[in-house]
Amino acid sequence: MTVLAIIAKKRDGLALDAEEIRFLVTAYVEGTIPDYQMSAWLMAVYLRGMDARETAAFTQVMLDSGERIDLTDISGRKIDKHSTGGVGDKVSLILAPLMAAAGVKVPMISGRSLGHTGGTLDKLESIPGFKTELTPAAFHDQVRDLGVAMIGQNERLVPADKRIYALRDSTATVASIPLITASILSKKLAEGIDGLVMDIKCGRGAFMTEISRAEALAQSIIHTAALHSLPTVAVITDMNQPLGYAAGNWLEVREVLQALQGRGPEDLMQVTYALGVQMLLLAGFEGSTREAVNLLQNTISSGRAMTRFQQLVRAQGGDVQSLQEPGSCAAARIQQHLRAGRSGFVTGIDALKIGEAVVRLGGGRKALGDQIDPAVGVLLGKKTGDQVDKGEILAVIHANQTSAAREALEMVRSAFTIEAAPAPKGKSILRIIKG
Ligand code: URA
Repeated sequence: MTVLAIIAKKRDGLALDAEEIRFLVTAYVEGTIPDYQMSAWLMAVYLRGMDARETAAFTQVMLDSGERIDLTDISGRKIDKHSTGGVGDKVSLILAPLMAAAGVKVPMISGRSLGHTGGTLDKLESIPGFKTELTPAAFHDQVRDLGVAMIGQNERLVPADKRIYALRDSTATVASIPLITASILSKKLAEGIDGLVMDIKCGRGAFMTEISRAEALAQSIIHTAALHSLPTVAVITDMNQPLGYAAGNWLEVREVLQALQGRGPEDLMQVTYALGVQMLLLAGFEGSTREAVNLLQNTISSGRAMTRFQQLVRAQGGDVQSLQEPGSCAAARIQQHLRAGRSGFVTGIDALKIGEAVVRLGGGRKALGDQIDPAVGVLLGKKTGDQVDKGEILAVIHANQTSAAREALEMVRSAFTIEAAPAPKGKSILRIIKG
C-alpha cells in the first residue's frame, strides 16, 4: 500500500477500502505524510466523493485518532448541537448554557472558522482569557459540575480532525459531504453524547447552497451517526443572509449577551429555539413543542441562562468582567458606516459576501495559522425585509486597518440588494429531518 496509489485510486473515482483510509489518515496524523499529499487526497475526495461505507470508515479512523470521553457516570442524557457553518452563526454560545440551565448536559467539541464561515472556538476565544483546551478529565468534570463545557479538538481529542480541518480550510476542500460528515461526527462521537442535533445551514453563506445538497448532508450525517447508535436530528436552516446582525467574533459575543438578556434578534432566536426544542426532545422532554419553547424562553427571562454562561466563562478562565462591560473590550479602531444609496426595501443581504468581508478585515483565516483579530467585523443595521430610507445606515464596518476597512465596505455594499417593492420574508427553519 502506498500513499501515491491511494491518492490515484480516489483521483480515478474508485472507492477506497477501510484499511487504505486508515493507513493514510494515521500516517498523516503521525506526521509521515506531508501536507501536499494529504491535500491532493482531500481534493480527490472533494471532486470524486465517498460512498456511505467509505464515509463511515473515514469517520471511524478520525474518531480512533484520539481518546473518547466517557460520561456514562454522569446522570442525565448528554445532548449536543453542531452547525455545518454559517455567517453570524453564534447559536452555540447561546444554546449550550441555555440548555445546561434547562437541565440538559451539553459536552461540546467545536471547530474554528472555516473559509468564510465563523467558528465557535474563535468566538469564545475573543472573550479575554477563555481557554478552549481542556484535558478529557477536566472536560468530564466540568460537564458533571456545570452541565456544560465548550472546547476544541486537540492532541488528545480527535487530533486527525484538528489537522485535517485546518488543511481543508486552506485547500478549498471544505464543502464536501463526506468530509463534513466525518469531521463533525468524529468530534461528536468522541464527546460521549447520547443524542445530537445538527444545524444544517443552507444558502449563499453555507457550504450547502442548494436544499437538495443540504438534505443529502443531513442524510449522510444521520446515517453515519446511526451506525454508531447515536440518535440524530437534522434541522435545515436558512443561511442566505447572516444570522442576527453581528458577524465577527467579539461583535457576535456582544449579540450573544443581548440574546441571553432576552433581546436577541428574531431569526437568531427562531433558530436557537428550534434546535433547543429538538435537544430537549432527545433528552426525554415529554411536553409539546410550545411547552418546550416556553421552558427555553423562561430559562432566558429568569436570567438562569445568562448566569450559566457567566459560570461557563469563569470555569474556562475567561474574564467575566468583560461581559459586564462589553463596550470597553476589543473595540476596533475604525468604524465606517455604509449608508443606503436609495430608498426601498432590503430584498437580500448576501451572507457569503459578508463572511468574506469579515475575513478581509482579519476576523477569519486566509491561510493556515493566521491570527484572528477578535475586534473586527460587520454589524448590520438592516435585515432582509426591512424598509430603508436613502442615507440610512445599512451596516457598520469595524476595522483595524484603513485599506481593509475600505475594501470591506465595498464588499458589504455589494452584498445588499435594495428594491422598490418588498420581497417575501424567507423562513429561518426550512426542514426538520429525524433519523
Ligand atoms: N463543522 C465541522 O466541524 N466540520 C466541517 O467540516 C464543517 C463544519
